[in-house]
Amino acid sequence: MKIILKIQRFNPDTDEAPYLQEYEVEANPNERLLDALMQVKRFQDGSLGFRKSCAHGVCGSDAMRINGKDGLACKTLIKDVATQDGDTVIVEPLRFLPVQRDLIVDQAEFFRKYRSIKPFLINDESVEEKERLQSQEERLAFDDTTNCILCASCYSACPVMAERPAFLGPAAIAQAYRFNADTRDRGFEERLDVLDQDDGVWPCQNHFKCTQSCPRSILITKRINQTKKMITTHKDKNTET
Ligand code: SF4
Ligand code: FES
Repeated sequence: MKIILKIQRFNPDTDEAPYLQEYEVEANPNERLLDALMQVKRFQDGSLGFRKSCAHGVCGSDAMRINGKDGLACKTLIKDVATQDGDTVIVEPLRFLPVQRDLIVDQAEFFRKYRSIKPFLINDESVEEKERLQSQEERLAFDDTTNCILCASCYSACPVMAERPAFLGPAAIAQAYRFNADTRDRGFEERLDVLDQDDGVWPCQNHFKCTQSCPRSILITKRINQTKKMITTHKDKNTET
């Protein structure tokens, strides 16, 4: 089938503002959007800029907005976004991050926020056994969050980010939960400084857009709410003592 890709273009060296450029592509409905973008790049316009690496939903580099929804081009089938011959698919860069060129965004702020929650196991206690043991049930409490590929789809999907650019964002909070909920970790209080702030966990209004956009089916909104609960429980305990 023929589809029309309307792709947002922007070259900061030559363009004053972003614009949509149209490409007609012959695409198999079972192919992925990434295949169609590659076709444009290889045979129609080598100047088109986008990131991709694994092409299998693992590296997280080809997140973009596809017909107004955030996701990975390599996990989006043509038939999911275009059903009839001549259908148009609008492809834009992720929101709330500066565009470097076409579909490529500067992810520095996204990763700065991610790093701020100390996304690693913190525990200075000595290990009695050879390793820190954990039951299967304990691991299940945060299992989904370990699948994050840091694609930033959730960051772009979050409506709060539009009004509050300093908001920590869904991915960073879900990753804070990943370690705070880990029975082997002792870093909760260290992460609290960042999480329990006006721009930490509290701006989340449960829109669920992050959860809907996540290509790894992470229960982001639930994990954010559980993080809020952890903080209030911790504070209540501290006032009691
Ligand atoms: S939580 Fe999901 S959408 Fe957000 S960065 Fe991780 S994989 Fe991407
Ligand atoms: S190219 Fe790696 S996730 Fe899509």
